[in-house]
Amino acid sequence: MAALSPFSSYSKASIIVLIICSLLMMFMGRSSAKLTTDYYKKTCPKVFSAVESVVKDAIQKEKRMGASLLRLHFHDCFVQGCDGSVLLDDTSSFTGEKTAAPNNNSVRGFNVVDDIKSKVESVCPGVVSCADILAIGARDSIALLGGPKWDVKLGRRDSKTASFSVANSGVIPPPTSNLGNLINRFQDRGLSTKDMVVLSGAHTIGQARCTLYRNRIYNETNIDASLARKRQRNCPRISGSGDNNLAPLDLKTPTFFDNSYYKNLIKKKGLLHSDQILYNGSSTDSLIKLYSKNPKAFNDDFVTAIIKMGDISPLTGSNGEIRKNCRRIN
Ligand code: HEM
Ligand SMILES: *[C@@H]1O[C@H](CO)[C@@H](O)[C@H](O)[C@H]1NC(C)=O
Ligand SMILES: *[C@@H]1O[C@H](CO)[C@@H](O)[C@H](O)[C@H]1NC(C)=O
Ligand SMILES: *[C@@H]1O[C@H](CO)[C@@H](O)[C@H](O)[C@H]1NC(C)=O
Repeated sequence: MAALSPFSSYSKASIIVLIICSLLMMFMGRSSAKLTTDYYKKTCPKVFSAVESVVKDAIQKEKRMGASLLRLHFHDCFVQGCDGSVLLDDTSSFTGEKTAAPNNNSVRGFNVVDDIKSKVESVCPGVVSCADILAIGARDSIALLGGPKWDVKLGRRDSKTASFSVANSGVIPPPTSNLGNLINRFQDRGLSTKDMVVLSGAHTIGQARCTLYRNRIYNETNIDASLARKRQRNCPRISGSGDNNLAPLDLKTPTFFDNSYYKNLIKKKGLLHSDQILYNGSSTDSLIKLYSKNPKAFNDDFVTAIIKMGDISPLTGSNGEIRKNCRRIN
């Protein structure tokens, strides 16, 4: 019988360990709570009208701003998750993400984010995160430019850090990427090939700089000749000249969120290498054909995918903070 007693005390101990583990998991489960569409229902019901009014004014002043706000949400989510890290300014002791290769001289809209934050702070101070503002701002931009509207999941908190090195490391794929790299970089963030193809449809709005499509319009063969000639007129062959000259990603309706991006690809009229590579004789061709013919399938799948993107590693519970100013930690 003496042999049994170590066993029974062992099982008592294991029950205690089990209970402690379950409590810990419950606690952790709470601090990594799920995002919800009614997160600010009690604490800031006016958040939606506040964000929308500022986004509306900004787009009225400049249509491109809708595209710029959407891209900020993407670049935020792909580095450390959707935590507002892209918004942090550099300081003397800290280099944030703004000068990393995909962002430097490229991402924009920070003043509009500041304006949204001020407006939101004026209705409910200290409640709404900058990361959530980016998610709502992206949704409103798309809706205001004629695209779908959906219920945004909320409850993200803001990071106290940012990462130049991660932002600069290729986790946001460059436009020179081959298809495999695009697929892998999205897979790294839990997004499928289909998500990648449908989210690339964001390039139905906005502009790109000559330096990022120069090689395509002078050297590539899977490009419509008249588009190549047209773009060459405002993007000189010689690197260093006209590098920042802009061209619309969607030559047809660059301020309208529609499925013409996919129609362009079918005609070899994608502006970026990374656009046209989605329709160049590979497995993704069938999705391009589908979305080019079926705007509803595009809208529905886009909404599903951007909600998924907005769910990338958010800070919740007691992690992170609610920044007072989106450009710096409290
Ligand atoms: C699939 C991989 C992607 C690549 C390689 C890529 C690359 C680029 C590049 C090179 C530009 C032009 C930047 C410049 O000229 O400075 C651009 C612009 C843009 N991208 Fe992407 N992108 C990708 C995915 C996405 C996603 C997932 C979204 C959003 C859901 C997005 C939204 C935009 C928007 C809206 C613009 C225009 C921004 C503006 O006019 O200010 N992109 N992208
Ligand atoms: C960002 O762009 C500026 C202006 O073109 C340039 O001087 C700077 O070196 C760039 N920063 C990085 C980190 O590449
Ligand atoms: C075209 O490709 C060649 C060979 O890779 C390269 O040296 C040249 O810079 C490219 N031209 C442009 C305009 O990008
Ligand atoms: C597109 O496919 C064609 C035919 O297979 C190939 O010659 C070309 O190099 C491809 N273009 C790109 C940019 O990969």
